[in-house]
Amino acid sequence: MSASAPFKLLGLSGSIRAASTNTAILATLAEKLGGAADLVLFPLHDIPPYNSDLEGDLLPPPVRALKRAITDSDGLVFCTPEYNHGMSGLLKNALDWASRPAFASPLKNKPALSMTSSPGYVGGARAHAQMHETLLASLCRVVPRPQVVIAGVEAKITNGRLTDAATIAFCLEAIDDLLNEIRLLRRPAA
Ligand code: FNR
Repeated sequence: MSASAPFKLLGLSGSIRAASTNTAILATLAEKLGGAADLVLFPLHDIPPYNSDLEGDLLPPPVRALKRAITDSDGLVFCTPEYNHGMSGLLKNALDWASRPAFASPLKNKPALSMTSSPGYVGGARAHAQMHETLLASLCRVVPRPQVVIAGVEAKITNGRLTDAATIAFCLEAIDDLLNEIRLLRRPAA
């Protein structure tokens, strides 16, 4: 993480497989942001299935770390596959943990950008609706912009990095919008 970047972004991938294209996209954007922001990925491997019996003192340490990382960030960047026309269950589970306590969680008022990618023709577009419902229910500030959908993703990835120039530019524009949203929310009320 650079000392000078003005924004801290947290990247959450909806896939934990080693060759995940969604993780590759986030890793590429982290490298491409330059001094505009730091984008740090939080891998979801260790997040257990949601269990409200474990809220409070018994909160699993990986969940505690996730909630801390969300709190410490200025904004969130999600990149998720679509599974059976819905969002990744892994990511939904992480968001369920992060969304507690309801209406006062680390997600409340957190600016968020959601992206999907898929080898298919619609790039996971159907997962967006579900993801937005969840983010809005958690009181996230979803960046008001057209959704980022990356179709035919396998041809756009080389050696674990997004290499399609037009797609990189498209994603960086979306992150710019996220940074503008963060700036807007930081502005003191008139
Ligand atoms: C998929 N995939 C998929 N793709 C899509 O565009 N729409 C869909 O509904 C589904 N459904 C689906 C269900 C299940 C159970 C699997 C395993 C896969 C394909 C999926 O998008 C593809 O495997 C992605 O490459 C997964 O993302 P990562 O792991 O590369 O990040």
